[in-house]
Amino acid sequence: MALLELRDITKSYGEGAQRVDALRGVSITVEPGEMVALVGPSGSGKSTLLAIIGGLLTPTSGSMLVAGADVAKFDARARSRYRRDQVGFVFQSSNLVPFLTARENLLLVGEFGGADRAALARRADELLSELGLTDAAGQAGNRLSGGQRQRVAIARALMRDPSLILVDEPTASLDSKRGAQVVEALRDEVHGRHKACVMVTHDLEMAARADRVLEIRDGLLQVHQAAV
Ligand SMILES: Nc1ncnc2c1ncn2[C@@H]1O[C@H](COP(=O)(O)OP(=O)(O)O)[C@@H](O)[C@H]1O
Ligand SMILES: [Mg+2]
Repeated sequence: MALLELRDITKSYGEGAQRVDALRGVSITVEPGEMVALVGPSGSGKSTLLAIIGGLLTPTSGSMLVAGADVAKFDARARSRYRRDQVGFVFQSSNLVPFLTARENLLLVGEFGGADRAALARRADELLSELGLTDAAGQAGNRLSGGQRQRVAIARALMRDPSLILVDEPTASLDSKRGAQVVEALRDEVHGRHKACVMVTHDLEMAARADRVLEIRDGLLQVHQAAV
């Protein structure tokens, strides 16, 4: 079964003469273990699409299935549980708490409840190790390099073992070598743990490291195969 299936999603903002059709019928299927890069000019609908997938925005029409469940039919409580437990967001600004250590930034997700602390601590250490951050675990957020901060942000998004990982411009502030490492780390997680990932990027070199590249223009998709 596909992990994520969007069928003919549209999203319009505003009404009448103010109306903006940000998405005009987008269908995407993402399998478990698949990393999809989403590229396209500014204003083409990338952030709108990520917000819909993450349950932050409701589409105007169309349907979205996550592991077979229709997210539009969720009530408010199920929707917030979906956002908390099934979706991991990584934003361009990694938003770490600067005076907490890398490890403490991961453990913060426990503050939102619903998880056993010992299990969270084990999970944090496992992710720190997988992402090559064991030596940086005790360093404060504001002492980490750009690449380390991005990796901590990825680890934090993975703490609750979400099935969907949504990433907006993960490498914008990194040089190409560090950027490549961040994308590789993410891809290893996605492949190894059978997650589905949608990564928005302007960087075609990073996009080419995904399993598939989707290009969006003016709210409509054009499909390409990733260059290998
Ligand atoms: N809250 C909003 N209200 C009105 N228009 C919006 C809103 N958010 C985005 N848009 C418009 O929708 C279109 C797609 O925006 P967005 O999804 O942010 O594109 P991208 O992330 O590709 O730059 C743009 O024309 C943008 O101006
Ligand atoms: Mg955007």
